Amino acid sequence: MKAIQYNNFGNSDVIELVDIPTPEVKNENDVLIKVKAASVNPLDVKIRLGYMQKMRPVELPITPGLDVSGIVTAIGSAITKFKVGDEVIAATMGNAYAEYVVTNENVVSLKPGNVSFEEATSLAVNIGTAQTILFTEGKLSSGQKVLIQGAAGSVGATMVQLAKSNGLYVIATASGKGVDLVKSLGADEVIDYKTQDVSKLVKDVDLVADCAGGESQATLFEVVKSGGKLLSIAGMPSAELAEKHHVDARFISSDLSAKSLENGLSLVSEGKLKALVSATFKLEEAAQAQDLVSAGGVNGKVVLVVG
Ligand SMILES: NC(=O)c1ccc[n+]([C@@H]2O[C@H](COP(=O)([O-])OP(=O)(O)OC[C@H]3O[C@@H](n4cnc5c(N)ncnc54)[C@H](OP(=O)(O)O)[C@@H]3O)[C@@H](O)[C@H]2O)c1
Repeated sequence: MKAIQYNNFGNSDVIELVDIPTPEVKNENDVLIKVKAASVNPLDVKIRLGYMQKMRPVELPITPGLDVSGIVTAIGSAITKFKVGDEVIAATMGNAYAEYVVTNENVVSLKPGNVSFEEATSLAVNIGTAQTILFTEGKLSSGQKVLIQGAAGSVGATMVQLAKSNGLYVIATASGKGVDLVKSLGADEVIDYKTQDVSKLVKDVDLVADCAGGESQATLFEVVKSGGKLLSIAGMPSAELAEKHHVDARFISSDLSAKSLENGLSLVSEGKLKALVSATFKLEEAAQAQDLVSAGGVNGKVVLVVG
């Protein structure tokens, strides 16, 4: 099968299209998926640059990619939830830029019938991450207040919708055309982080969901109520500031299991949560696709169309 690989860490010119053996179902809980579309996530770029080797080491050569949509072509002997021919999405957490991928059934969900394969793949990491931050770790309930930093990004835009559909009050930060985007997704208040100082405008939120990281993260401690939470998917919060402000501040690794995606996928099926695909590329254009993600300023997911 055709797949993307690289043998050295570095810029996107390390990326190659190669022919490798098609993976096979080896374990009773495995599902083999013929990939129709695969997402390009910022983590793919960080891994390729070698930045994640301490925290999340990989061996080379590697086929990148964390989540796919596609069609089930083979199943292990213990699988009862899926059959050959089912249209699915899966957070494989590896090997996704390829014509086929094999993965454990725990991360496979049926694709909602009302979205395309491109839209479906764009939802897996986003929904699992938003669910983890807001509910599994954030433990928010209807009526509580969340500030979503980086709300017009790929994860952020899904988080705004998941939060609103579950009755939360959403304050969102964005810039440029992202401001109108997050308003259209239902955010109650939108702050343009390039022209306004969020730490002066917002106080006493129950949770800051930080999807941007960087230096601005430190200022977000000012907006959380004492006893509240600052959960980041993009950078380790300062333990010193957490203590000073009496805030539960942590870096969060998302739960991308099928269970974690249930809430969001049922909203997708009901037409209450929309996928945002900002650009599509062919599999062999993976380098350009990753360069677009690296350049930033993209609202929504960059997707590889594979089969
Ligand atoms: N820990 C986990 O399990 C996990 C899971 C998923 C993603 N992530 C990480 O989470 C981050 C977000 O992922 P993504 O796919 O949503 O990326 P993305 O689409 O690039 O979104 C990032 C957003 O952050 C915004 N931003 C940048 N600087 C900002 C600032 N100072 N204040 C407010 N917003 C700012 C950007 O806005 P502009 O467009 O205005 O620049 C952009 O909309 C990435 O670092 C990714 O690797 C982690």
